[in-house]
Amino acid sequence: MSIDSYEASRKRSDEIRADLPEHPEKYTMLTGDRPTGRLHLGHYFGTIRERVALQDLGISTRIIIADYQVITDRDTTANIADNVRNMVVDYLACGIDPAKTIIFTHSAVPALNQLMLPFLSLVTESELLRNPTVKAEQDASGHALTGLLLTYPVHQACDILFCKGNIVPVGKDQMPHIEQTRQIARRFNERYGHVFPEPDGLLNDAPAIPGLDGRKMSKSYGNAISLSATDAETAKLIKKSQTDADRNITYDPEGRPGVSALLTTAALCTGRTEADIAAEIGDGGSGTLKKYVTESVNAYLAPIRARREELLADMDYIEDVLHEGNRAANEIANATLDEVRETMGMVY
Ligand code: TRP
Repeated sequence: MSIDSYEASRKRSDEIRADLPEHPEKYTMLTGDRPTGRLHLGHYFGTIRERVALQDLGISTRIIIADYQVITDRDTTANIADNVRNMVVDYLACGIDPAKTIIFTHSAVPALNQLMLPFLSLVTESELLRNPTVKAEQDASGHALTGLLLTYPVHQACDILFCKGNIVPVGKDQMPHIEQTRQIARRFNERYGHVFPEPDGLLNDAPAIPGLDGRKMSKSYGNAISLSATDAETAKLIKKSQTDADRNITYDPEGRPGVSALLTTAALCTGRTEADIAAEIGDGGSGTLKKYVTESVNAYLAPIRARREELLADMDYIEDVLHEGNRAANEIANATLDEVRETMGMVY
């Protein structure tokens, strides 16, 4: 997307953020994740924490576990049911409350998926081919551009619009999809009659959470601290992270990505600044730094991990949460699809 439209989105995002506590009743949040593994600290500080805050402001909140999106760039659904259930466990352990937030999966909501047909008629091949996030995902996967990979941003518009979501907390990479969703909503409304809002992205102000090597935190880079890791696994991962030979600890993300990523991780978990932590460690070297980071992360995650354990002991409850979420999402999707068919004159 162009710099101009990014700036415009950022401005709208800031305005909405200021309005949220004033008028929570105006907003419906829809966002979600692909169930490809366990949630990690990057997800937590990047978006999960914000979802909990929006939920607790009294905004209508819906979270999609995007199971059909898993096969945009993979050939297998191995472990998908286990990943979906663990994702519910992670959400609840972080403070998502199923009494307030609907948690559901793509594959359980047929009416959501049916929106794909009219929506596909509202986009052109060249718009689809221009999406930079789709291109990046195709390059990373080394796969052919399948029909699903090319059109999943339209499917994502179905995710957002089936519940008339108007705010979507996402990272920068998802902004082209939001832009596409706005266009679909606008074109539908113009062509057939007003049904859908034009949703806005809620851009995260926090800098991208670095993984242990200073690159973006991602499971596929092996640099991520999972919420579900044990204290010992966390210690081991931090211990083997790459730092440098300079014993004097300083915060310098460009020059010292490893040391700086560790400082940022500890800063997020303690509420202190990187500079403050660096000054305290001084000449202590990376051993002292790693010890401090490990203690900070494990202390921060202790209540989340304890809650995880409790939830894991009652998987029937997790199943119930998912069934109830899917039921509620179907009710909303059926009502929206009825409205779409009526607006399009397809009632027989
Ligand atoms: N594409 C998102 C990701 O990879 C997941 C997702 C699916 C999503 N549907 C969504 C995000 C709808 C926001 C809104 O993380």
